[in-house]
Formats: sequence, C-alpha cells, structure tokens
Amino acid sequence: HDHLITSKQLSRADIETVLDRAAEIDADPSTVADRHANTLLGLLFFEPSTRTKMSFEAAMKRLGGDVVDMGSVESSSVKKGETLADTVRVIEGYADALVLRHPKQGAATMASEFVDVPLLNAGDGAGHHPTQTLLDLYTIRENAGLDDLTIGIMGDLKYGRTVHSLAYALTNFDAHQHFISPESLQLPREVVYDLHQAGDGAQVREHDSLEEVLPSLDVLYMTRIQRERFPDENEYQKVAGEYQIDLETLEVASDELTIMHPLPRVDEIAPSIDETEHAAYFEQAHNGVPVRMALLDLLLSETGGERDE
Ligand code: CP
Repeated sequence: HDHLITSKQLSRADIETVLDRAAEIDADPSTVADRHANTLLGLLFFEPSTRTKMSFEAAMKRLGGDVVDMGSVESSSVKKGETLADTVRVIEGYADALVLRHPKQGAATMASEFVDVPLLNAGDGAGHHPTQTLLDLYTIRENAGLDDLTIGIMGDLKYGRTVHSLAYALTNFDAHQHFISPESLQLPREVVYDLHQAGDGAQVREHDSLEEVLPSLDVLYMTRIQRERFPDENEYQKVAGEYQIDLETLEVASDELTIMHPLPRVDEIAPSIDETEHAAYFEQAHNGVPVRMALLDLLLSETGGERDE
C-alpha cells in the first residue's frame, strides 16, 4: 500500500496527477459524490489542527465516505500510555486509510511500518506535511503557475514542516526559491544541501531580509515565527517585527504578487492585506478539500476502495 510520508516521495508526474484530478473535482464535485461510499478514513491527531483535520473529513464525506476519529490525546487511550504502534494497528482495523498528525518528527514513518492501509502524514513535528504541499502547489499553479516561478518563503524555516515539504516538492519544477528568515530560524543545513543536490544550486538563495527580494517575487509564502521556540523573549522581539508584512511593505511588490500562508497566522500578515488581490491564503485553505479529495480518490481507487486482505 502507498503511504504518503514526505514530499520527497513525489515526482513531478505524481504531483501533476493529483493536481489535475483536484481541478476536475473542483470543477464538478458531484461526479465523485458517491464514489467511495462505505469507505472510512481514520483520523489520528495527536496535535491540534483546524484545517488539515476538517478538510480531510470534508473530503472523505464529499466522496461518499465517512471518518472515524480517535479524538484528542486527552480523550483517547493514549492518555493511559498506549504506544503509537499499538494505536495505529488497532485503528487500521476500523478504517480503509489513516491520517496521522504527531508532535514527533519521524512518527509517520514509524507508524507506517505497522499498518497495511495507506497512511498519510498530516504533520510530524518539525518534519514534513506533504498533503499541505499538494494544496500549496495547487494554489500556486492556479495563481502564478509552477513554471518559471520565483517564490519567497519567509518566517520559521527551521521548524516549519510546511516549508520543508514545499521546498523539496518545488525542486520538481523550474522554481527559484528565496528563503527569508532570521539566522536563528534558517532552513536546516541538510535541507539546503538536499535542495542544492536536487536542482541547479543557483535556484536556492537565503536572505535575512525581505526587502531585497520582494520586487522579484511571484509568490510570497509566509509562515508564523514560532515565539515558543525562542529561548529568550528578547531574541524573539529582535526578529519578530521584520518578518511581518502590511500594505506599506507591499509598495515595492509586483501587482501580480500572490501571498500565501498555511495558517494559522498570528500577526505576520496585517488584516489590511486580506481584502487585496494579493491575498490567497483563505483560497489556499479552501483548496484543501478538492486536493485531499483527489488524493484520497487516487489512493483508495488504487486499493479498490476496500481492504484487500
Ligand atoms: N495548515 C495547517 O496544517 O493547519 P492546521 O494546523 O489547522 O491543520
């Protein structure tokens, strides 16, 4: 069975298959309304989520199926000390595919070794978030196109799993990636190394300020600076303001600039930007449904939509 653990698994052809299917579904969702009746998706969220969890649930229900939800850590037997390996082995008996979010990097890889049904990583600590990447790529394709793309990715690049997954996936395309962060929150060195290995090294650049690159960008992908990661509040205060944008910041940007954010945001995008043509972050969150419908449809069709044991 196919598990989706990191975006490194995805070729350009894989990505385009999902995005094309999502576009078909988006154009007319009624064509798939009963396609996966009697199919159950197991939701295992060991960390808070609004978008990922609810859009997976909406996607499965819009395909005619339903979900079984472990609920929160507090309300489940995880609270009694059950291991992740045992939990996933039990829930795979209740569902045709599993979606797992967990605070530990590597949790999805480990869990996938214990189950036969497809397991989708919905975020593992500071690791990866590949289904977010698929909806991000869908949004980029709709707004700016994936070819000849210049993208700025700004904020917490060190712990940001949406950033890690997106950066690897973009190496499949003709994309110039500019990474903007304080030094303390730069991309992990191994990720930079991998990106250089994957593509033409000139396509990846790192910056500590948005100013110099903003005019050249087609897409600005914002992320939250995670205050809780800083050992010292003063260190956070030094960098926080520089990584916020408002209407004044955008004076030097292209009229065509698309601004994205995986959300939730805190204060990094001023609400005054929400009503401008630049803002694509709510559309991006809405794209989670057709993209996850497409992914589930492709995975569950491959497996016949049923357990094959
Ligand atoms: N973008 C994202 O993963 O949001 P949630 O944490 O609300 O699922």
